[in-house]
Amino acid sequence: MKVLLVNGSQHNNGCTHTALQEIADELQRLGIETEEFWCGNKAIMGCIGCGHCTETKRCWNDKDTVNDFLEKVAETDAFVFGTPVHFAGTSGFIKPFMDRAFCSKASLFFNKPAAAIVSCRRGGAQGAFEDMNRYFTIACMPVVSSKYWNEVHGNTPDEVRQDLEGMQTMRQLARNMAWILKCIEAGRNAGVQLPEHEIPVKTNFIR
Ligand SMILES: Cc1cc2nc3c(=O)[nH]c(=O)nc-3n(C[C@H](O)[C@H](O)[C@H](O)COP(=O)(O)O)c2cc1C
Repeated sequence: MKVLLVNGSQHNNGCTHTALQEIADELQRLGIETEEFWCGNKAIMGCIGCGHCTETKRCWNDKDTVNDFLEKVAETDAFVFGTPVHFAGTSGFIKPFMDRAFCSKASLFFNKPAAAIVSCRRGGAQGAFEDMNRYFTIACMPVVSSKYWNEVHGNTPDEVRQDLEGMQTMRQLARNMAWILKCIEAGRNAGVQLPEHEIPVKTNFIR
């Protein structure tokens, strides 16, 4: 079982990474494989709604990290997406990254557990956290929670490590994620089928 941890910060080894690493360490301790994927700090373009991905399951745009990520989705059992808080919302990297990733391969995310975590200096965590969770709840993904909303506070990795409550929240999230993954595996081994998915009906509010 493998969890992919997506770092949506411009900093490869900053605060968001520090929180994701705490989750990774706990998951590994519980026998779950992890990999961290960095979105990078080069511009990530938004979705242009061209429909190319409907045919190919890849984004037309190979200039950034979105397609590299999409290649890993099929082999991944669960996801944690992390972002720093920028102006009380998600970073300008993770927003277009998730728009295009979820447009391109939404069905490949179906029924795979997911969680969002956010890192902020002081305020605006809630808005960013809720923005991230909305991707999961349109893609049939069970959302994994912790004992508090999944946020750490700090402006440097060292400050984040001093946020003992935040670090504890990350470890509990990892334990809950491991538990859900093991329950899913046990269910599969016992013959519990994944839910059926109907052919989508899109009414666009027109009867
Ligand atoms: C453009 C920008 C906007 C920011 N906006 C906020 C904010 O609204 N609230 C906050 O608490 N911190 C804000 N910060 C600080 C970062 O969220 C915080 O330092 C975070 O932990 C950095 O994570 P990182 O090292 O993974 O990038 C902002 C930082 C930047 C660069």
